[in-house]
Amino acid sequence: MMRLGWLLVLVWPLVAAAQKPDGAAIASANKQATAAGMEILAAGGNAFDAAVAISAALSVVEPESSGLGGGGFFLLHRNDGSATFIDAREKAPLAASRDMYLKADGTADRDKSVNGALAAAIPGLPAALVVVSKKYGRLPLSESLRPAVALAQKGFLWSEKNAAMMGWRAEKLAASSPARKIFLPGGKPPAVGARIRNPDIARVLQALGKDGHKSFYTGRFAQQLVDGVRAAGGIWTIEDLNQYRVVERQPLRFAYRDQEILTSPPPSSGGIALVALFNILAGYDLATMERAGQVHLMVEAMRRVYRDRAVYLGDPDFVDVPLEMLSSPFYAAGLRASIRTDKATPSTMLPGVTVASETTDTTHFSIIDADGNIAAVTQTVNLPYGNAVMVAGTGFMLNNEMDDFSVKPGVPNAFGLIGDDANAIEPGKRPLSSMTPTILIGKDRVAALGAPGGSRIITQVFLGLTSILAGSTATEVVTQPRFHHQFEPDQISIEPGALSEVEQAELIARGSKVAPAERPWGNMQVVIWNRVDGSVEAASDPRWKNVGAGSTSEGSIYR
Ligand code: DON
Repeated sequence: MMRLGWLLVLVWPLVAAAQKPDGAAIASANKQATAAGMEILAAGGNAFDAAVAISAALSVVEPESSGLGGGGFFLLHRNDGSATFIDAREKAPLAASRDMYLKADGTADRDKSVNGALAAAIPGLPAALVVVSKKYGRLPLSESLRPAVALAQKGFLWSEKNAAMMGWRAEKLAASSPARKIFLPGGKPPAVGARIRNPDIARVLQALGKDGHKSFYTGRFAQQLVDGVRAAGGIWTIEDLNQYRVVERQPLRFAYRDQEILTSPPPSSGGIALVALFNILAGYDLATMERAGQVHLMVEAMRRVYRDRAVYLGDPDFVDVPLEMLSSPFYAAGLRASIRTDKATPSTMLPGVTVASETTDTTHFSIIDADGNIAAVTQTVNLPYGNAVMVAGTGFMLNNEMDDFSVKPGVPNAFGLIGDDANAIEPGKRPLSSMTPTILIGKDRVAALGAPGGSRIITQVFLGLTSILAGSTATEVVTQPRFHHQFEPDQISIEPGALSEVEQAELIARGSKVAPAERPWGNMQVVIWNRVDGSVEAASDPRWKNVGAGSTSEGSIYR
């Protein structure tokens, strides 16, 4: 089992409620979900009630990204300084086995781990909504779910993002008649701006509000899900649903200068990667370097951290994750010693494994309430519209999170990520995730952030944190162009504007391959509370048009 050791040492006690924010701030990927959160705050809910409202609303209005058929991570920080991490990651069905996606000739059948019922792991999000509401909220679950129920009953507005993701997935989704009925009315994708009603998911949410966990995981509804999945070729059993529980874990906490960062522990790979990135880079005076030199060192750190992800990380309830080693400054010093400032290390010179990238989806939201409670939540069904299967009468897409396991050592998943034994499939195990909801507690500024993007989540959160620490506004943080390296493929992906021609040339001269990205990535959602003047900011990534930032201190402005 993992040991956190010195990592949990706190930097200083939180200046508990020394002051409160002027108002609340919410940033989510969809205006309708942000409005659901605002409504619950206005009804007297706290940040955690709002998190339940937004999570459920996103399940309705962003079926491509996350939902009741998927999972997520809820990082919660109360204004008394206490914090928890609700791990609602999906679990492999009990009938799953290590080689279930291998063909007779031993090659990986990635179609099966991505498309159809066999790709679905046991959902965790409904269980999380119940636990977050009961243990941390102020309002009854049924009340926090009401805005989502209303969106499903009255209809939500089909966005450009819904449509773009459907363009990628429509062909597969058309094979599932319950999904077709709701999301491909008349056999084709809805027009942007069309109103989409989903009475089935409204009923599931109402039952969850009334009867809690058991309404989803036991009895008639659970049997209906199992029957539907099995009829479509899946292997779920009623025990899978009966046994599912979220796990409450200690967030990873680490110090950067005089600031404290709380982030996601395994089965997220993101938090430990952030610790290691900051540890490695602590050995350099980046501020005095020119940009190409800074980027080179950050890329070399990313390369090493993603290598370690592939080798060591998996579900801590199944494998011994060497957290103490990976978070140690001594280990970081060893990695740093292998970095040259004038030359890129080819990834093949580091022992490890291989890579690609597809259109992907997931969603993140961040909340600070007027009492200073904070929630950072990332939730997913993995690829857009999950495995493209909906069980009749449920109204939600099932996930294809099984593809986040290493289906075969060294065979890349949808994000080009590779893994080994630590992330091999086992019955009841959680697949390794890159989702990295993160909270920064500084003396002057407090922030919550996160993003979708599969393997690119970790580097986005890293760049986002670095930029917050440097004093950027929330809008600057979400807007800045990004770069990314994930060990394999051995290249620096860059968004337009991330690096000038001259900077690119300097990196190429060091031996790096620079790969301009075909499209920008991520959908980061950031809230910041400035403790000096009490002001709050919320900003949504401008990369998607249907953004949903809002902030009560600014009069609920949606940008
Ligand atoms: O848990 C993970 O790491 C992935 N299932 C997340 C997928 C994702 O972020 C896709 N988003 N764009």
